[in-house]
Amino acid sequence: MKYPFRAIKVTDTVYWVGAIDWTLAEFHGYATPRGTTYNAFLILGDEPVLIDVVKAHFKDELLSRIASVIDPGEIQHIISNHSEMDHTGCLLDVIERINPKTVYASKKGVDAIHKHFGESVQVEIAENSSTIELGNRSFTFEETRMVHWPDSMFTLYNDESILFSNDAFGMHLASSERFDDEVDEGILREEAAKYFANILMPFAPAVAKTVGIFDKYGIPKMIAPDHGPVWRTNLNRIISWYLEWAHRRTKNKALIVYDTMWGSTAKMTRAIEEGLMSEGVSVKVMPLSKSNRAEIALEVLDSAALLVGSPNLNSNLFPTVADTMAYLQGLAPKGLIGAAFGSYGWSTGGAIKKLETILGDMKVEIVASLAKQYVPDESGLDECFQIGATVGKRIKMMKLGKEK
Ligand code: FEO
Repeated sequence: MKYPFRAIKVTDTVYWVGAIDWTLAEFHGYATPRGTTYNAFLILGDEPVLIDVVKAHFKDELLSRIASVIDPGEIQHIISNHSEMDHTGCLLDVIERINPKTVYASKKGVDAIHKHFGESVQVEIAENSSTIELGNRSFTFEETRMVHWPDSMFTLYNDESILFSNDAFGMHLASSERFDDEVDEGILREEAAKYFANILMPFAPAVAKTVGIFDKYGIPKMIAPDHGPVWRTNLNRIISWYLEWAHRRTKNKALIVYDTMWGSTAKMTRAIEEGLMSEGVSVKVMPLSKSNRAEIALEVLDSAALLVGSPNLNSNLFPTVADTMAYLQGLAPKGLIGAAFGSYGWSTGGAIKKLETILGDMKVEIVASLAKQYVPDESGLDECFQIGATVGKRIKMMKLGKEK
């Protein structure tokens, strides 16, 4: 069958040959309502090179886009920057179809490819910081370990100064547009931040180190990630965003995440919110009945405080709260202060103790904790207000401390 997919020209020698996935709703727990792209790039030259492949069931879209420029069999080399399945799902099929001379991956990437597909796959190690000539084209490899897997690496295409950055600087955004200047600025920032929060936040120190690559090589003409648009205008914008997020430059902001069973924890939330606002703090309240994990992670990214409310269900956390906290624990945001609160009925209020334990494991400094039986009365709501005010004062002190 002949497929209709066409390559998109990036430069005279580079073509985008990836896939657009409008159907993706979730990426390992991260809601992706705007879908995504799996980017792959064809470099033309004496020995054509393919940088990354795509998720398994988009193989025909990839090969069709390549075929709109050259016969896929002409490709001599594949560079695999990262072995997660959204970028290597069809690697074996593509190798079989085009029979390249060499496949390159980082040292850890070779290991990962072998563990996914078997030791018989022929893959060469792309030595860290090495430059190789493939025909008349020059490439430099830089390992970017734990951004966000041990195998992750960048490939710099020296002839055109394009950095193929794999997951870094990417976003889950399906679109017909391939370049940053074709996409609304607000959407770019929101989706890039959401990607950082949900994928890269646990590895913020490694990301900060990786951004140092621009000191070594200078800022390239383009950054071409494996998800979302290629950055070709004002690259300092995405680089400065990454520095902001990697160093967790928070705002004068508190995030309250809660669920409620019979309305009591909701009442406590509203009183805490008022206390925070009384100190001039910006408050985002996210009821778990209508908030997904990815949106919560995005809000954590620039929040100075995380306050979590849970009702008790059989003396345990409410299921939505347990789910959210398990997710946030994995993302391990640094430097938060916080509070645990909630209502309990006939039980002993075990949910709040569990929340304290989880927040403690996350190294959140717990400023206050409050469990109220059944329905909070006037004095109980005043206690909640005071918790909000106390956290608000701490946020203000933190901000003043940063300004000194
Ligand atoms: Fe886009 Fe880590 O895969």
